[in-house]
Amino acid sequence: MESRRIGRRELLGLLGSGVIGAGLLACGDEPAIVVSTPTPAPVATLSSTPRPATTATVTAALTVTPQGEVTLLRVIDKDRGGLARDYVPSDLVRIEDRWAVPGFAGQTMRAEAAAALVRLLDAADKSGTELRVRSTFRSYGEQVGTFQFWVDRFGEAQAKRESAPAGHSEHQLGTTADISSRNINWELLTPFGDLPEGKWVDAHAHEFGFAISYPRNGEAVTGYIYEPWHIRYIGTARAAEWKRSGMILVKFLEQMNVPR
Ligand code: DAL
Ligand code: ZN
Repeated sequence: MESRRIGRRELLGLLGSGVIGAGLLACGDEPAIVVSTPTPAPVATLSSTPRPATTATVTAALTVTPQGEVTLLRVIDKDRGGLARDYVPSDLVRIEDRWAVPGFAGQTMRAEAAAALVRLLDAADKSGTELRVRSTFRSYGEQVGTFQFWVDRFGEAQAKRESAPAGHSEHQLGTTADISSRNINWELLTPFGDLPEGKWVDAHAHEFGFAISYPRNGEAVTGYIYEPWHIRYIGTARAAEWKRSGMILVKFLEQMNVPR
């Protein structure tokens, strides 16, 4: 697959001309350009200690930790594992803006996932692989806008292949990140997987506790096109198991029998 730099404008032109299919475009991060966090979040740095939880609104039906959080291993897909409209993780922290894609400052994730992501980005940097984060936590309301963005552009059928309905996005968990690189113009596009940066993510994300949720050729199982940039934090031990298993993440989580 072609892996030259391609801007969104050029991409949309190609899509309009029918040269490439909409499947090349991905995720649905576009409206997340405006990330609204109700209260200022503490910043996750390499050395920071996550602050304790402050607020959580979680319905009793959800599978939660004693702290009131949805568990790290909960199955979330387009049909199952819906999150309440008002579910916002209580321990969101802000990721230092130096790790954000230009124009996408103010990213937030749950504290443990944020610290792991910063470790991943720092390790990548030190190995000469420049990765930055473009989209992280998205509230239910933000996901409504994200999904609609794709419906408006490509119709509902295509939108459903690329963007989760609100309440069914791993981004609402606050443990998921979309990462990109300069070589793909900081976009979220499938050719990222063929770039050295995408290959680095594929080879090393699990070392930091992350799994790639939507692998190549996985759509029949995941319901989503290949998203080499979309990584979900499940903890280093589980991520190592997941990597060894060779399983698609949703199947791996299902066989662990985590209650929904
Ligand atoms: N792009 C993924 C499926 C999401 O919207 O959560
Ligand atoms: Zn994503």
